[in-house]
Amino acid sequence: MNNRKMRAFMSTLLLATALSAGTARAAESAAPATTTTAPTARPWMDRTLSADARADLLLREMTVEEKKLLVFGYFGSPFKERNYVPPAGIRMGSAGYIPGIDRLGIPAQWQTDAGVGVATQRDSSEPMRERTSLPAGIATVATWNPALARQGGTMIGKEARLSGFNVMLAGGINLVREPRNGRNFEYGTEDPLLAGIMVGAQISGIQSNNIVSTIKHYALNAQETGRFVLSANIDEAGARMSDLLAFEIAMERSNPGSVMCAYNRYNGDYACENDFLLNKVLKGDWGYKGYVMSDWGAVHSTAKAANNGLDQESGYIFDKEMFFGADLLGKALADGSVPMARLDDMNRRILRALFDHGVMDNPVAVEDHKIDYDAHAKITRADAEEGIVLLKNQGDLLPLAAGASRIAVIGGHADKGVMSGGGSSTVFGRGGNPVPGTGPKNFPGPIVYHANPPLAAIQARAGGTVAFDAGTDPVAAAKLAGDSDLAIVFVNQWTGEAMDFALTLPDNQDALVAAVAQANKRTIVVVQSGGPVFMPWLKDVGAVLAAWYPGTAGGEAIARVIYGEVDASGRLPITFPASLDQLPRPKLDGEGLPDGTKFDVSYMEGATVGYKWFDQKGHKPLFPFGYGLSYTDFSYSGLTAAVGSDGTLTLSGSVTNKGARTGKAVPQLYIGPVGGGWEAPKRLAGWQKLELAPGASSRFSVPVDTRLLATFDVAKKEWVVKPGRYKVWLGASVVDLPVTTEVTLKGNRFSAVKSK
Ligand code: BGC
Repeated sequence: MNNRKMRAFMSTLLLATALSAGTARAAESAAPATTTTAPTARPWMDRTLSADARADLLLREMTVEEKKLLVFGYFGSPFKERNYVPPAGIRMGSAGYIPGIDRLGIPAQWQTDAGVGVATQRDSSEPMRERTSLPAGIATVATWNPALARQGGTMIGKEARLSGFNVMLAGGINLVREPRNGRNFEYGTEDPLLAGIMVGAQISGIQSNNIVSTIKHYALNAQETGRFVLSANIDEAGARMSDLLAFEIAMERSNPGSVMCAYNRYNGDYACENDFLLNKVLKGDWGYKGYVMSDWGAVHSTAKAANNGLDQESGYIFDKEMFFGADLLGKALADGSVPMARLDDMNRRILRALFDHGVMDNPVAVEDHKIDYDAHAKITRADAEEGIVLLKNQGDLLPLAAGASRIAVIGGHADKGVMSGGGSSTVFGRGGNPVPGTGPKNFPGPIVYHANPPLAAIQARAGGTVAFDAGTDPVAAAKLAGDSDLAIVFVNQWTGEAMDFALTLPDNQDALVAAVAQANKRTIVVVQSGGPVFMPWLKDVGAVLAAWYPGTAGGEAIARVIYGEVDASGRLPITFPASLDQLPRPKLDGEGLPDGTKFDVSYMEGATVGYKWFDQKGHKPLFPFGYGLSYTDFSYSGLTAAVGSDGTLTLSGSVTNKGARTGKAVPQLYIGPVGGGWEAPKRLAGWQKLELAPGASSRFSVPVDTRLLATFDVAKKEWVVKPGRYKVWLGASVVDLPVTTEVTLKGNRFSAVKSK
């Protein structure tokens, strides 16, 4: 859609929204009173009051019918297969919509996906919104730079606001327990501290725009195969020390207005009607005051879901019934199976979040003409280039010097653009999809590329001749590589929602790389993927870059790293396995089962996730967690571990740039009990990202979250730090830790219940 058409379309929508005042369908079923209450008579709009007090004041004014309205959300796009026509107030092509209540000045909740920017549902019959896309979540985490994560969040939150959305379904934090999971690209990867800090930073950036951000998918939604039916089974201590800890850390740092419960079952019960997850842990132990919204199609009951902690049903048409719709909820209230107090609590939580995050005080409107795409391109580029991980660089093949040479660029549609991940999170970049018609026809396809071609960015810097070959015929590609001074091969592994993926590159791309590498030793491979892939050709190529899905400025970012305009400073936030038999579950559970067949996934590894599993088992991965080369060299020294009078452990160390170029180091600190006793020999305890000029040193200190020194006592709901000796490591990745020390901890116990 061109901009003019888009704007005309959006203003029609706005008009429709204004006229609908509560929307057609909602008005039919609930008929809220439409008398206008004068603003002066709205004491809840007094900004000097707390969000709690304001929510209470407003709740008191609401009728039961109005209360039913706020807990029921509609899908924000037409769904032809189900003959679904969304209500009039939606933002077309969006994820969801909850009608507002004009009488009380409660705005509609307009919900948009997701973590990389303002997405558009592709089932929408309308043309797509074109917006800035950040690199994939996994790429942002690979920057190990929380300031960038926050900046990216602030940017996409701003685009969400200016696109008329006040709820952004962003903050994917599920730990990567299954490298084949098609949604790993959206998530915070495999370590609870890294995930918690990075995703928390993104959420706080989003919410700085006076909109709500929704952390998801709570919890253990670790594979897409069978996601609607599987039961993720795990022992409580293991969950508390891994996936739940990731949520907890991110939420403490960002106070998300909403939590999205997941599709899957958790220890038998659906996550969206799971008393343990929602009532006991989230709202009980963690004292969460925001609201729980369901994933789209994740609700299975009225009374059980409401009583066990779900506050808002989302995206109606995806659930089999309108479980929280006026009829079913009305019946449940009438027969007492859902107490009125619970409906009040659901509403209070939603309203509190809207007050707490400025949604009530700062209404959104569609003002997309105000989006500064040039400024936003710089933000996404900075994120992408710091997230690119240099995995191999034999003989310092990279960075390339600008100057006359013959370069072959091969494959991956590098002449057209860069790849993005598939599913509800997909953002359509400006200029549309330059490679239409690839991948699955239906959701989560087709594959969307962003029109920021690496080829043009390389050409702009090369100074010599740059020839492109599509890479479909390895023989022709090898011929071009043989006739060139060096070859840059782009290989792509598309992943997406609702599916899981093999770790082997598709479409004969391994054969392509092998053929090119045979023809020219100076072969650089740029991998675009949503997670780890196997690299059977690794020993034969000169250099490898993991570029993930690099977002709408991805082509520029890749070229800037290749030409050394910035250091290669990404570090792997995830283990690249060498083979499937190294995984806790070499065979993907549920694979091949008829759709809808319930099955269990046993997360018997508990908190031994990712690098911890590899460390514990002594497996040698293809590339370890934390790994990534720079264009300079760093050394590590001066490790100390100091226990403060309050018992807090602070780790300090130094890093020095020994090379001749400015570079960014990511010194990592790990800790583990001498003699063992944890789920793994060591845990990530902290890190820093530091830019250093040649010869420069920097000293840094990291206070360690005491939960990372503890195990979880389920019976007492306490974190337990055992007294004794602990080993501390400092270095460049989980397997490259040259500096160590030891520290004695006195040991202590503390409650996992926040109110205590
Ligand atoms: C996804 C969510 C998403 C929602 C709305 C679901 O399929 O699992 O992550 O926010 O759709 O589009």
